[in-house]
Amino acid sequence: MVRIIGFFVGLGFVGVLLISLVINGADYFSNPPEPTAAHEFHKEPRKAELASDGMAGKFDRQQLQRGFQVYKEVCSACHSLKYVSFYQLTDLGYSEAEVKAIANQWATEVPSVNPETGEPATRKALVSDRFPSPYANETAARAANNNALPPDLSLMTEAREGGHDYVYSLLTGYAEQAGYKNEKGQELLKEFPDVATPPGLHFNPYFANLNIAMPPPLVSDGQVTYADGTKSTVDQMAKDVSAFLVWTAEPTLENRHRAGWATLLFLTIASILAYLSYRNIWANAKREVAARGPLDPAFRDRMDEQKAERGIAG
Ligand code: HEC
Repeated sequence: MVRIIGFFVGLGFVGVLLISLVINGADYFSNPPEPTAAHEFHKEPRKAELASDGMAGKFDRQQLQRGFQVYKEVCSACHSLKYVSFYQLTDLGYSEAEVKAIANQWATEVPSVNPETGEPATRKALVSDRFPSPYANETAARAANNNALPPDLSLMTEAREGGHDYVYSLLTGYAEQAGYKNEKGQELLKEFPDVATPPGLHFNPYFANLNIAMPPPLVSDGQVTYADGTKSTVDQMAKDVSAFLVWTAEPTLENRHRAGWATLLFLTIASILAYLSYRNIWANAKREVAARGPLDPAFRDRMDEQKAERGIAG
C-alpha cells in the first residue's frame, strides 16, 4: 500500500514538472526574450598573442619591463597593485639597485606613523613594500573617478573572462558611439536609440555593458617613452601592460608550465615501464595456457584427427 501511494506521489511530481516544462518551453518560443544592446553589440576579446600563451609559453622579460613602465606611468595613477611587492621586480630582470630606486621614487608614498607624534604619516616605499594604492581609501577613489571604483589590477587577467586578451581589447577598444556598427552591420543607435552613453561614461564594446567609467588611458602613440627603444604605439603599450598583468597575476606561470612538461614526461616513462612489466609478468602464464589449453590450435587439430580416426562426425 505504502509503495503504491509513493508511486502516485512520485508520478504527481513528475507530472507537474513535465507540465511546467512544456508551458515554459512554449512561452519561450512564442515570446522570445527581447534582444538587449549589450547582447547584440558586445564584442568578444581580440587575441593579444603573448609569449606566455600556450603550454610552452614563457615570459618575454623585455615586454614585461615595458608593461611595468606603462603601469607605472599611466595606470598607477588610478589602479592599485596590492598583491605585488617591489622586490618581485627583480624577476623582470631589474637589478636590486634598480628596484631600490624604483621603490624610493614611487609617486605615492606608503602609509606610516610619525615616530615622534604617533600621528598618521607617509614614508617613501621600501623594496619590501607592496605597491601603494594611489588613493587613501575607497571613498577617495570613487570621489576622484565619478563614483566608479578603479579595481585592483593584481589579479585582473585571472578575474575576467578572456584574461589578458580582454584587458588588451578593452584598452584598444574605445570607439565613437555615433555610427557604431556590429559585425552584422547593424547600427547601435538605430537599433537601440535609448542606449546613448551617459555623460561621464565612455563607449567601449568590449566592456560588458558597453559603457565604462574609465576614460581611455592609452590615447596617443609615444605616450610612454620605452627605455629599450621599442616604438610605443597604443597597440604595443596595451599588449605590453596586458603581458605585465599576466605576470602580476601569476608570477610562477613558467614553473607551472615546466612542472606540466615534467609531469607528462614522468607519466609517459611510467606508462612504458608499467607496460613492459605487464608483458614480463604475464609472459610465462600466457605461454603455458597456449601450450596446454583446449584453445591451443595444435591441441584441437589432434582431437579432430582422433575423432576422424574413430569415425566420429562433428
Ligand atoms: C583616470 C583613472 C584611470 C586610469 C589612468 C586607468 N584606469 Fe582603468 N579603470 C578606471 C576606472 C574608474 C575603472 C572602473 C570602470 C567601471 O567600472 O566602469 C577602471 C577599470 C579598469 C579595468 C576593469 C574593467 C572591468 O572589466 O571591470 C581594467 C582591466 C583597467 N581599468 C585597466 C587599466 C589599465 C591597464 C590602465 C593603464 C593603461 C588603466 N586602467 C588606467 C580608471 C582608470
